[in-house]
Parts: sequence; C-alpha cells; structure tokens
Amino acid sequence: MNMPENDKQSLSMVTCTAPVNIAVIKYWGKRDEDLILPINSSLSVTLHQDQLKTTTTVACSRNFQQDRIWLNGKEEDISNPRLQSCLQEIRRFSRKRRNTGDSTSDVSGVSHKVHICSVNNFPTAAGLASSASGYACLVYTLSQLFGVESEQLSAVARQGSGSACRSLYGGFVQWKLGEQLDGKDSLAEQVESESYWPELRVLTLVVSAEQKSVGSTSGMHASVETSQLLKYRADVVVPSRMEEMIRVIRERDFPAFGELTMKDSNQFHAICLDTYPPIFYLNNTSHRIISLVHRYNQYYGETRVAYTFDAGPNAVIYTLQDHLSEFVQVVRHFFPPEVSGEEFVKGLPVCSADLSEELKRDINMEPTPKGIRYIISTKAGPGPCVVKDPNHHLLGADGLPKKSVISD
Ligand code: DP6
Repeated sequence: MNMPENDKQSLSMVTCTAPVNIAVIKYWGKRDEDLILPINSSLSVTLHQDQLKTTTTVACSRNFQQDRIWLNGKEEDISNPRLQSCLQEIRRFSRKRRNTGDSTSDVSGVSHKVHICSVNNFPTAAGLASSASGYACLVYTLSQLFGVESEQLSAVARQGSGSACRSLYGGFVQWKLGEQLDGKDSLAEQVESESYWPELRVLTLVVSAEQKSVGSTSGMHASVETSQLLKYRADVVVPSRMEEMIRVIRERDFPAFGELTMKDSNQFHAICLDTYPPIFYLNNTSHRIISLVHRYNQYYGETRVAYTFDAGPNAVIYTLQDHLSEFVQVVRHFFPPEVSGEEFVKGLPVCSADLSEELKRDINMEPTPKGIRYIISTKAGPGPCVVKDPNHHLLGADGLPKKSVISD
C-alpha cells in the first residue's frame, strides 16, 4: 500500500518496550477464564530490558482498512480473542476519556484501525515466556497512542495473558487476586522499585529441551479441574507466603527470599504432578540444577543461590552479586558447555572465578555435558518505556513492517 503524501500525515505512530518478569510466588489457576482472574495472588521480579524485552510499534490511520498484527516478522491472526480483548478495552478507555474531556493527547485515532508490529530481543526458541512482555508492551503502546492513563492498565494486560499485568511495572511487583466479579480490582502494583535491591542478580539457564511442553493456559486449566493440592495452595499457602515474600524483599534478606522462592517453585511443580494426567515441565537437566543449587548452598551452610522454574525446563537463578561469578563457574564445571566462554554467558558480564577442589568434591556430581545451552545474565529492571527516536519504529511511513523486521 503506497499512500499519497498528505495521507501519510494522517498516520500516528508510537513505539514502546516492555520487560519480561519471573514469578517468585507463582500464578497458577484461574477463577474466570475469560477475564483471566487468578485463584491466588502472585509476585515477580521484572527483568532488565537491556537483556530481555519486547518492542512494539502501533500505528493508526484513517487509511487502514483493518486491524493487523505482525509478530517477530510474521503476520498473525488479529482475531485472537485475547488480542481482541486488549484492543477493545483500550479503545473503550480512550473513548471514555474523550467523552469526559479528560484526555491530554489527540485521541481522534481511536476510531481508526491499527497496525501492530512486535519483536522480541530474545529468541522464541529459548523457551522464555514472551506472552508477558508481549501483551504488556501491546497494551502500554496502545495506551500511549490513544492517550489512556489509567491505573487499570494492568487489568487490560491481564486479559491478554495473566502474567503480563506484572510486566507493566519495574522492580518487585505483586498481582493482587482481587475480589470483584468484573476483575477491576485484580491488578498489579509495584512493591519496590528496581533500584531497591541492587545486589540482586538473575541468571536464566537455557536448558536443551527435548519436547515442547504443555502451555500455561491449558496446564493451569487441567490443574484447576483435577488438583486438590491447588485448592490448598490458593486458600492456605499463598496468602501467608505473599506477606512473607514482601517482608523479606523489603528487608533484602536473601536467604529467606531464596528459600521461599525455591519452595514456591517446588510447590507449583508438585501441583503439576498432582494434576491428572500429570504435567511434567522439568527434565533431567532441571532436576540436576536443583540438586546443584542445594549442594552449593549446603557447602556454605546458607542459601546463596535460589532456583525457580516456570512452565518449561529452563531454570531462573536468583543470587547476589558477591556469589555470581563463583556460581556461574560451578555451572560451567558441572554442565560443560558446547560453546566457548563468551557465547555461553550472554548479557551482563560475569567475572571469571576459580573453584576450590574442596567445593567441587563436596558437590560430588557427575558433569552433564551440553545440558545447558547458554546463560542470560541480568538483574531487576524498569517497567515499559516509550522509544522516542523515530528511527526505531518497526513500521514504515506506509504503515507496514520495515524490511529489517520481516522474517523469510
Ligand atoms: C508458570 O500468564 O502464561 O509462568 O494467563 O493463561 O496466559 P495465561 O498464563 P500465563 O501463566 C504464567 C504461569 C507461570 C507462573 C507465573 O508467571 O506466575
């Protein structure tokens, strides 16, 4: 579509980025599948966008014939009900603001069709959940374009993917389950900002996956239907864990934070086993990482490193700056990589470290060559950002993806 010059001017465009988040108290199970309302509250750490982010450009123009979306260079079906919920909700908010004369920006575009183009700076094949950063970025970018400022924005992102609501804030974020039937109080809020605990470090250990795992949506549906342990978790365990987790974060108490994080991950995977038929997200390498972390902590007689696993075999490790380089060396020793040093650890630099013979002997595990493909080293980071430089728009002046974002 080649637009005449004056028509090009009717094109409004905004580009934003949004982060990935990793839960330390897991969300697993919905009480309302359409509105995506959870059966328990959850809490996560937002990861830094220098390492992991989604970038989204949304353009609107009266010349567009229909809403369209391109994800990682490929056009996808816009009729996806979750995408539709997000689009409808933002348009509704925008109209509301316009009707009340409340809007600060030009919202005339709200009646126009949109073109959406979104890319991740991490490979989908890495098995990292991209729906959280993806929907958070979509909703945030739409809100910027249509001049929507609302505390309810996380409720819109939640309707794209539950965990996406937590990616609207940086640092430490809780998603309160809420009580209302319409979900208006099922919102994310920041517990502490990304600068609150600067020594905290995050490593994603990308494990070689043998098969594609069951998706979160269908997995949690099956758990709600069949697991009794899930009810106990939601009613009894999570409410007190949320309080404790917030307290230990505020106190920057790593041993308590780490222990609670590991226990919560383990309980989530116990619920997966309690689901009938059972769901297995962890593989042999995941189990070996769990043993390695416990043996490492045991050696020092304190929790220096903690693991957590989502709906797949990749481990996310939380630790403190002081222990980072030694633990990465431990991982390198017990999971000898296929690729050389620099390629194995991506992201924030990690210094090299020597391991004592005593530590290696005490851990006492057979090395698993090539069990871990690579590590992404990162830390807590900020929430969504607007990208000011127009050169970074993913859509061209014709409203179509630039050549550089199209995949073959
Ligand atoms: C294990 O947010 O991907 O990562 O709401 O159905 O889209 P839907 O599920 P999703 O589930 C995430 C589950 C988890 C735990 C978590 O992030 O809290």
